[in-house]
Amino acid sequence: MKAATLNYKNTYLKSTAPRGEFPPALPLFVPPGTREIILPDPMLDTDLPLGHVAQASAADHLSLQDISNLAHYTLGLSRYEPGELYLYHRPAPSPRCKHATELWYFTLQDAALPAGLYRYNPIRHTLQMDDLQDWLSILAENARQPQDGWLLSAVPDRLRHIYGDFTSRLMCLEAGHVTEQLQLVHHMLGHGLRSVPFPQQWVWPTTEKEIPLQVLWRENLQTEDTPLPVSFVEATRNRHSAHGSNGVYPLPIRLPLETACQMGEFASRQKTTASLYAVVQNVEGLDPGAYSYLPHEGFRWIAPIPRKSEMQQALFITPGFHVPHCPIVWLISEDTGVLQAEGTMQDYQQTHQDVGRVGQRLGLAAAASGLFARPAVSHDEGYFDWLLRLTDTDETVLYQVLIGQDRYEGWPVQMMF
Ligand SMILES: Cc1cc2nc3c(=O)[nH]c(=O)nc-3n(C[C@H](O)[C@H](O)[C@H](O)COP(=O)(O)O)c2cc1C
Repeated sequence: MKAATLNYKNTYLKSTAPRGEFPPALPLFVPPGTREIILPDPMLDTDLPLGHVAQASAADHLSLQDISNLAHYTLGLSRYEPGELYLYHRPAPSPRCKHATELWYFTLQDAALPAGLYRYNPIRHTLQMDDLQDWLSILAENARQPQDGWLLSAVPDRLRHIYGDFTSRLMCLEAGHVTEQLQLVHHMLGHGLRSVPFPQQWVWPTTEKEIPLQVLWRENLQTEDTPLPVSFVEATRNRHSAHGSNGVYPLPIRLPLETACQMGEFASRQKTTASLYAVVQNVEGLDPGAYSYLPHEGFRWIAPIPRKSEMQQALFITPGFHVPHCPIVWLISEDTGVLQAEGTMQDYQQTHQDVGRVGQRLGLAAAASGLFARPAVSHDEGYFDWLLRLTDTDETVLYQVLIGQDRYEGWPVQMMF
């Protein structure tokens, strides 16, 4: 099946006219005259394990096939969920599937594509050329070798009407998920990726239009990872944040210690400055309590849970998610001192993006064990800073990832190659 026909065959579109299911973020049709490049169907070896790092590629530019794989396995459509509130899902999660992040490929010299900036359209699996000359010239002024890579931008308005001022935080976390996923695919293709905030000469507009966030320059591969014994494609297809259109009520399970450690190790291999903690409720061999997770060492005890009900309330403040059945909830913290001191958007962005990257790895590692991973910001930060003994430090818990086993599996339709 061709990428472009996937929607028509797998969704209601096969038998009806469009039903308005496509959010504005995912336009089905494009204005006449759009310069569009149809990408080849994505094709990644499904046996390659999660965390695989290929031999460094000798190619001096990405081929169209590479670009197709990178875009599809990062922000293509992965699942259609006809029974859920949110219909379209992608390899990187997004708050309420609003998909504030846009993915662009750019090249400053003619290679597989003429020099330019290209927006990825996940529904059509195409690249659309855009004349954003000011973005392109800022990229050119800050050019590196090789002269191509990806640009992440965000459209805050897709979130703002729901989340208000919380939007900037959510869109930076989301961009972190996307960055990590894109880097994992780059490594599988033998390329490196360096992430830098969009250059400072860019002045944020006061209106809420699309803004460039992060530049991801392709670079020579010089990294290592320890793969998990599961296919990358399978883990990416199965990554999800828990089914349940009317609240999430997971099965009560006891998690093997090995599974919990596998998640912790895979997540902490992302070399950001983020720290990993866990509230353990039901893991074999571990007393319930608050722990830090240290790479190669594992769980280190911090404190018991003083009052279970109070802690569970703090884990998910809003109703609708049955936290007591999550065997483990990961908490990701960062040093936020610099944010207060410097107050620049770049620091804020980088901090949240790093945290989002760890969240993406947790999501994939959970999927590798058939579990859901719900990234969320529904926790009481003050409570966990206190429980984890962070109150007198500059560290703050910025993100949580709730792990569990679905009771209700939904009717997901695979849309990933
Ligand atoms: C940055 C970010 C913040 C999120 N915050 C919450 C949250 O506070 N509460 C919640 O229930 N889900 C939260 N989610 C989960 C998304 O709503 C969920 O990932 C989305 O519906 C997509 O589902 P999927 O991951 O299964 O594709 C968040 C996701 C992201 C990426």
